[in-house]
Amino acid sequence: MTLPVIAIDGPAASGKGTLARRIAQVLGFAHLDTGRLYRAVGLAVLKRGEDPTDPAAAQRAVEALDLSLLEDPDLRSDTTGGAASKVAAIQTVRDALLDFQRNFAAHPPGGKGAVLDGRDIGTIICPDAAVKLFVTASPEIRAKRRFLELQAQGSTRTEEQVLTDIQTRDARDSGRAVAPLRQAGDATLLDTTHLDIETAVARALEIVRAGLGVT
Ligand code: DC
Repeated sequence: MTLPVIAIDGPAASGKGTLARRIAQVLGFAHLDTGRLYRAVGLAVLKRGEDPTDPAAAQRAVEALDLSLLEDPDLRSDTTGGAASKVAAIQTVRDALLDFQRNFAAHPPGGKGAVLDGRDIGTIICPDAAVKLFVTASPEIRAKRRFLELQAQGSTRTEEQVLTDIQTRDARDSGRAVAPLRQAGDATLLDTTHLDIETAVARALEIVRAGLGVT
């Protein structure tokens, strides 16, 4: 039996991670935040003091990937996010992570269904997903949300610096030759620019339920 897969893609800080987690909770599906895989590879390269844009260094890191890095406190930092975005542009890194993601989607823990979020879930990883969402928001609002999050963690980065980081990452993730960030033809667009998180979750759940044919 094929289990339902929900694919959620979108740019950095669009809210897709929160939406994916909440949808998975409500439906009792397993959730995979695929950005964490690329972050673990980026962090491994940084910890070795190597350059995340160097394909050989990234290849070594993905081959010897230490899964305990998924729990590293630095995994969610913006520096790691930048390194993740760089290693993610390297084809061999994407190839090495492909089977793990497809396997999770086909055999999700719990056996009910899977929610995967990332950049290429609806286009490359799970092109046959039952429901595809493309979550976006204006760069300015994404920067504001991320800035407030970082500020609460004691960061001294300014909102302008956070906006620049987001624009750089958007350009790299959308402009790369391999598996660029783009909305799948059959994905539903959810623009969260003017939505608070609860409204966005409610709207996403409506789209998912309609797509799965459940009420
Ligand atoms: O979603 P995130 O910010 O944790 O992702 C970090 C980086 O990883 C992102 O800038 C691009 C890359 N990524 C990707 O290329 N493909 C995915 N499916 C998930 C993330």
